[in-house]
Amino acid sequence: MPFIDEVHLEGKTVLLRLDLNVPLQDGVIQDDSRIRAAVPTLEYAIQRADKLVLCSHMGKPKGKRVPELSLQPVAKRIAELLEREVQLAPDCIGDEVRAMIQDLTPGGVLLLENLRFHPGETDNDPEFSRELASLADVYVNDAFGVVHRAHASVTGVVDHMDTACAGFLIQKEWRYLSKALSNPDRPFVLISGGAKVSSKLGLLQNFMDRADRILIGGAMACTFRKAEGYPVGKSLVEEDLIPQAKEILNKAWDKEVSLYLPVDYLMGPNAEQEKTYGVFPFQDIRSDAMILDTGPATHTLFSETLKDAGTIVWNGPMGAFENPTYSQGSVGLIQTVCNVDALTIAGGGDTDSLIHRCGMQNQIDFLSTGGGSFLELLEGKELPGLKALGIRME
Ligand code: 3PG
Repeated sequence: MPFIDEVHLEGKTVLLRLDLNVPLQDGVIQDDSRIRAAVPTLEYAIQRADKLVLCSHMGKPKGKRVPELSLQPVAKRIAELLEREVQLAPDCIGDEVRAMIQDLTPGGVLLLENLRFHPGETDNDPEFSRELASLADVYVNDAFGVVHRAHASVTGVVDHMDTACAGFLIQKEWRYLSKALSNPDRPFVLISGGAKVSSKLGLLQNFMDRADRILIGGAMACTFRKAEGYPVGKSLVEEDLIPQAKEILNKAWDKEVSLYLPVDYLMGPNAEQEKTYGVFPFQDIRSDAMILDTGPATHTLFSETLKDAGTIVWNGPMGAFENPTYSQGSVGLIQTVCNVDALTIAGGGDTDSLIHRCGMQNQIDFLSTGGGSFLELLEGKELPGLKALGIRME
């Protein structure tokens, strides 16, 4: 496999693609996990390469320069973590950038400005890719969070480099996720939550052939209960997906995959209010209220099904966890997952923020840095950024 520790970096200028797309509020980084996750590759490359040129996207500026999406705060944070100077270039291509790279002293680190300030990045424009590639001798991709995007700095650039490889973060993500998908310790349990069945269809379908048990929570469980003919009150339901939900329920039966839905719910007027209407069994839902979290009987049921698990993969919360009133189902389940003697893997935007909120990030065996990329990989899709480097799931 083409990973960084098999490539000669000595004396080279290295272009390192990272996912430094961290949440910012008024220029202040709210969570630096993605920057920290890049540190092993950064340190390894600094010790060997002559010059290190870092690049990343930030947000979705749509090909225009948006000052609020500058990587300036990120450059500062990387400098603090590495305890060395990290300059920020005013752009990601062009003569000024080229001159700044030339002026770097050996061991120097330069961060290029937001790649997505140029439309060529998301368009995977060959000319933009060639410009980027011309800045360095070796290309290293360690941006797992963006490997599902066929963008210039992820795929196009590889066509113009003699040497291209993946960094340690991609290697780690790849190792954990391919182990879970191809050779899981059993019983293999998928926990799938979140609001919409539509965004989890691919995941559920792929896991029908892999998992022994599937636990479904979050508002998406309401579509499944409605498909079974049970009331769901005013809860979020994707009516148009009821046929697919029925199909998944039937498929699980045919394939002998044990599929569990919540058996009780905490209900309330809506996700924003602190007031609740209390806990109701799934057959007896209040018609004027919304299902906003799983209840204690569900917690007991789900905990029982996880007790002897060999591998657990989790994507999506159990309820409207942003409101502490409706976070207990999700928080309780994290505690259970972290106490099971299994390989535990979690990922996805909401799951990541839920786990960080609970401060349990070090108790999960592996918390993916990917949002869309984590989900697409679990759906069994071929990810362009991995394919470009010749990395296949085993
Ligand atoms: C993410 O936050 O999931 C990655 O940085 C990818 O960002 P994108 O969805 O804007 O491509």
